[in-house]
Amino acid sequence: MWSSTTTLCLSSLLLVLILCVSGVSSYTNPKIIGKGYRLISIEETPDGGILGHLQLKQKSNTYGPDIPLLQLFVKHETDERLRVHITDAEKQRWEVPYNLLPREQAPSLKQTIGRSRKSPITVSEYSGTELVFSYTADPFGFAVKRKSDKQVLFNSSSDSSDPYGELVFKDQYLEISTKLPKDASLYGLGENSQPHGIKLYPNDPYTLYTTDVSAINLNTDLYGSHPVYMDLRNVGGEAYAHAVLLLNSNGMDVFYRGNSLTYKVIGGVFDFYFFAGSTPLAVVDQYTSFIGRPAPMPYWSLGFHQCRWGYHNLSVVEDVVANYKKAQIPLDVIWNDDDHMDGHKDFTLNPKNYPRPKLLAFLDKIHKIGMKYIVIIDPGIGVNSTYGVYQRGIANDVFIKYDNEPYLAQVWPGAVNFPDFLNPKTVSWWGDEVKRFHELVPVDGLWIDMNEASNFCSGKCKIPKGQCPTGSGPGWICCLDCKNITKTRWDDPPYKINASGLQVPIGFKTIATSAYHYNGVLEYDAHSLYGFSQSIATHQALQGLEGKRPFILTRSTYVGSGKYAAHWTGDNKGTWEDLRYSISTVLNFGIFGVPMVGSDICGFYPAPTEELCNRWIEVGAFYPFSRDHANFYSPRQELYQWESVAESARNALGMRYKLLPYLYTLNYEAHISGAPIARPLFFSFPTYTECYGLSTQFLLGSGLMISPVLEQGKSEVKALFPPGSWYSLFDMTQAVNSKGQYFTLEAPLHVVNVHLYQNNILPMQQGGTISKEARKTPFSLVVTFPAGASTATAKGNIFLDDDELPEMKLGSGYSTYVDLYATVSEGYVKVWSEVQEGKFALDQGWIVEKVSVLGLDGIGGASALEVDGTAVTSVSNIELSTSEQEYQEEVEDGEKKTK
Ligand code: NOJ
Repeated sequence: MWSSTTTLCLSSLLLVLILCVSGVSSYTNPKIIGKGYRLISIEETPDGGILGHLQLKQKSNTYGPDIPLLQLFVKHETDERLRVHITDAEKQRWEVPYNLLPREQAPSLKQTIGRSRKSPITVSEYSGTELVFSYTADPFGFAVKRKSDKQVLFNSSSDSSDPYGELVFKDQYLEISTKLPKDASLYGLGENSQPHGIKLYPNDPYTLYTTDVSAINLNTDLYGSHPVYMDLRNVGGEAYAHAVLLLNSNGMDVFYRGNSLTYKVIGGVFDFYFFAGSTPLAVVDQYTSFIGRPAPMPYWSLGFHQCRWGYHNLSVVEDVVANYKKAQIPLDVIWNDDDHMDGHKDFTLNPKNYPRPKLLAFLDKIHKIGMKYIVIIDPGIGVNSTYGVYQRGIANDVFIKYDNEPYLAQVWPGAVNFPDFLNPKTVSWWGDEVKRFHELVPVDGLWIDMNEASNFCSGKCKIPKGQCPTGSGPGWICCLDCKNITKTRWDDPPYKINASGLQVPIGFKTIATSAYHYNGVLEYDAHSLYGFSQSIATHQALQGLEGKRPFILTRSTYVGSGKYAAHWTGDNKGTWEDLRYSISTVLNFGIFGVPMVGSDICGFYPAPTEELCNRWIEVGAFYPFSRDHANFYSPRQELYQWESVAESARNALGMRYKLLPYLYTLNYEAHISGAPIARPLFFSFPTYTECYGLSTQFLLGSGLMISPVLEQGKSEVKALFPPGSWYSLFDMTQAVNSKGQYFTLEAPLHVVNVHLYQNNILPMQQGGTISKEARKTPFSLVVTFPAGASTATAKGNIFLDDDELPEMKLGSGYSTYVDLYATVSEGYVKVWSEVQEGKFALDQGWIVEKVSVLGLDGIGGASALEVDGTAVTSVSNIELSTSEQEYQEEVEDGEKKTK
């Protein structure tokens, strides 16, 4: 159908147990501390910002002495982004390092300005293109308004009816609050388990501090820290969204009460960024243009992945691959947890169970058919005088320190030291170790785990006489004497965040917070950046290897991690609750700028039931990152282990593999604009308030809706359909014409409901069991119009390139990008494409073999069809030849209401 010029060639489980029986005390009972600050000077800066000084009004000693003088800096950095930065006016404080997250420098401290009261307060409003900053001077409070809808987005001034107080700024305690309208819907502030779904739930705890705790029914802090929320409001039938980021890496509690929100932070500065929106897509665009666009993912990584902790030897891995093939279930990537390692040591091979020659032969075989291999790395480097990685680490002085010595902790290998990824020397040592390992084993990606960082000790460890046993099982039931360290104010800060949902000490089962990094940076401040800094170092290492596009999966994330890595939601449980929670977490990570995300399909631990695993693969087949993974102690749960699960997997993953070109295009859109691959429904239907809290269904892209069964024993699903026509993708005959209501859909065990919204053009291929093969098959397009509409327009697009290329972009000549259009007018259907770049697909010789048009029923079907300017005389099964390609066009009508 393409004209000749426009061719589309186209942990710790123990901890979990403790948490499950415990509740949270006094979390919702904030104290009012102090009388805040008054603004004593304000002036314009040469670069168009404003700089002010705030003076403490009255001392209070709760949580330590106040900082007497603060510097305020405000700047409209872009039309849609406003920064408000508040810090100690006299002393440099810890901030998220500018080299990790590149951004404009905040002004250096000018100590005299505030004291000399150099300039009078002349302005009370500082206006940008879209946002307006205003303040009250005494007590100091500020507000941010959006011009277009006059909404107050943030307002830190308090009055007597508010349950919170004024601005507090102490060395180890910062507090600020904002009022919120009651009907604002908030999303984000993770990573948390979110038992109440995607929408922030009033009075739930939102604690941000990277922690190795698995998803539990309590809304506790998990592996990542993302102090950002999106706020969606429906104002008189119009929807407006914006986001607020507090760029601070210290531990914090955020109290959300429904009509206000209070940050209680144990260090750093207030560095707020306001993103004006005003659509949810505009918000993620503005947010990721600031924190870094999501990494482009290789095509194969959108295929299915199989992993397990406990593939004891290579034969087991070979057997798994063979069984997937035999069962005809798609599989692109096979993974090893730490089973391939020698004594749980990174970058090693167990000579008995994973002999190198055999492993290389296996990799050669799978690489030839396009499959990939990924292994795990933990940050803890085994302390072992015969271990080269450790020796070189010591020689290069790469480890985090305590008392001038490498900080000693305990993870799988027993005694470990933790590399300090904030140290440039560590980054180059790490790159060298990755390179050495890659020469030993040509892995296709790396999985960085336990990087919150997780430690089996708290405090400082001591290696006892007799050393730790090493063996084939998990080595965590050994070994060190964990000593409580002398408690400094970093180990025992005056304000206790609700760490692990229990207010445990912040050094509990992690690196002691009084340990220190390069340049004396305290672990107390940098704790939540550990996994982020490791992702950056690993990305740099992989990119330096063969110049290919890296694939990294990380457990711990921070603001900006999506630029380097994908994420999975950690140690979930094989329960129906955790199946449900996985959707909220996956959707939240889309908002955090980490769109390549998924949960362990069928659950990590304990063992899932057969029915649950059936339902889980029906959800997991549509996670952006789709991987089955299980714990060492779980029974085997590969999808072929049960015939019923294998059938569901063939069905759901079969559809995923047909959708790979669409998923890859979404991956491209994520990379250029931050648009999440998996999205809450409100992204496409922002004025439709019914879907604001919907956490049981989701969209892939703008119009493909997944409505899975998430409850035991159900063979139907009640699903919300925003107004319009929706077409079942599996049978392409059933349509749901909704006025905006719930429909009950049939969903027997092997059925997952997937619907395509009206006005879309969905590119698909024929699928297969390995993405490399599926990629070679002809394309088809599904065009949807509103049922029976006499005139309508549909749109789609497609991006293709060579996934070995490090970058994903147009203009290189090696990519293809095509916009697709279709119109219907009085039964006349026109389909055409506009190719921005075509060479890559042309080289591959791809063709579009079939076009299915849905929604023509009510107008008596199509009377005529035109494809790329060529009239087609009959609308069924037409063989169409052009000078270049052959196409078969087929118009399908058919829309039956389900119920
Ligand atoms: C913890 C990870 O979350 C899990 O996925 C992995 O299997 C274990 N560590 C063992 O490496």
